[in-house]
Amino acid sequence: MRQDTLLAQAGARRDPATGAISMPVYPSAAFQHPALGQSTGFDYSRTSNPTRLALEETVAALEKAAGASAFASGLAAIDAVMRLFRSGEVIVVSEDMYGGTIRLFEKFGKSAGLEFLYVDTSKADLVAEALEKPGVRGLFVELPTNPMLRVADIAALGKLVHEKNILFVVDNTFLTAASCRPLDLGADIVLYSATKYLGGHNDLIAGIVASRTPELCENVAFVQNAVGAILGPFESWLLLRSLKTLSLRLSRHGENALKVAEFLQDHPRIRNLRYPGLPADPGHAVLARQAGTFGGVISFEVESREAVERILASVRVFMFAESLGAAESLITFPVAQTHADMDAKTRERVGLTDSLIRLSIGLEDPDDLIADLASALEA
Ligand SMILES: Cc1ncc(COP(=O)(O)O)c(C=O)c1O
Repeated sequence: MRQDTLLAQAGARRDPATGAISMPVYPSAAFQHPALGQSTGFDYSRTSNPTRLALEETVAALEKAAGASAFASGLAAIDAVMRLFRSGEVIVVSEDMYGGTIRLFEKFGKSAGLEFLYVDTSKADLVAEALEKPGVRGLFVELPTNPMLRVADIAALGKLVHEKNILFVVDNTFLTAASCRPLDLGADIVLYSATKYLGGHNDLIAGIVASRTPELCENVAFVQNAVGAILGPFESWLLLRSLKTLSLRLSRHGENALKVAEFLQDHPRIRNLRYPGLPADPGHAVLARQAGTFGGVISFEVESREAVERILASVRVFMFAESLGAAESLITFPVAQTHADMDAKTRERVGLTDSLIRLSIGLEDPDDLIADLASALEA
């Protein structure tokens, strides 16, 4: 089945006993065994649960992956992937990633003996150089990066790791399979904060890992069961329901974001505007080759931190909150929120200043969003 058909029928045809079109929620911790040595396929819900399995199989089909595992949050998904590496191994990572991912790597990855090399992964030559360092076993890229929206060329990086013993992981939270499929471009693992576009309604926290090979799937599922940070059946159902509208939502997020970015691009108070959907954006051409839509996240600078504070206090349609990827448009101040834990030197190097604003463009009428920004920028 094609992608939109898979999405529209997410969770359907899975309950032959009743013919339920909407996948039922199975809030059962354990499952009765027919006899000793026999199983219905489900034993204990940490290991596998019918509602979670419906979600995992749907995502695996969307990603053309060998399998997928659903976690309690995006960070739990990243933590599970981090546990595939062994002490002494080195992972090359995007330097301007989501602050929580950097915190996880620095606080827990390092104490497990892992080493992280931070590079600008939008520059394939810098990645190639880093991959030559001794002990490198992983490449972890955010596409595009949060919040600087730098775009890595996944196909080019896929060629760099090809036939090397390097696990290539892409955090595709900002685009989803409805726009880009990193496994097709040479990645081994694609992962998500499903809290964002996959969920899409600001009403759940979830994470997903989908892998190219059965062996990787088995290893991730082992961590999922052994560590236990699973997605519960209710959230699994909610996420399945959200998937039905994923490609519709992604298209509208992209259309709205482009209109807002075009407005901001001509505004005299805006500097360093980043939106890869704009032809003038440095990441545009690369992303256009590998993605169908450009997502709904925009970042830009104004003249000062005081100006940011005035804008945050003035918006009436945007809400000041720290997430992205859902129906409601949000405005975020990364230095004080999502990236508060990033050290000052790194922030300076990647351009994450205290006059930077991140917008997550939702599904509202774009004219209301533009009018709101226009009046907040006048305040
Ligand atoms: C790109 C990216 N990856 C991972 C995460 C972490 O996901 P969660 O908040 O669902 O744990 C986030 C959260 O903002 C994110 O933006």
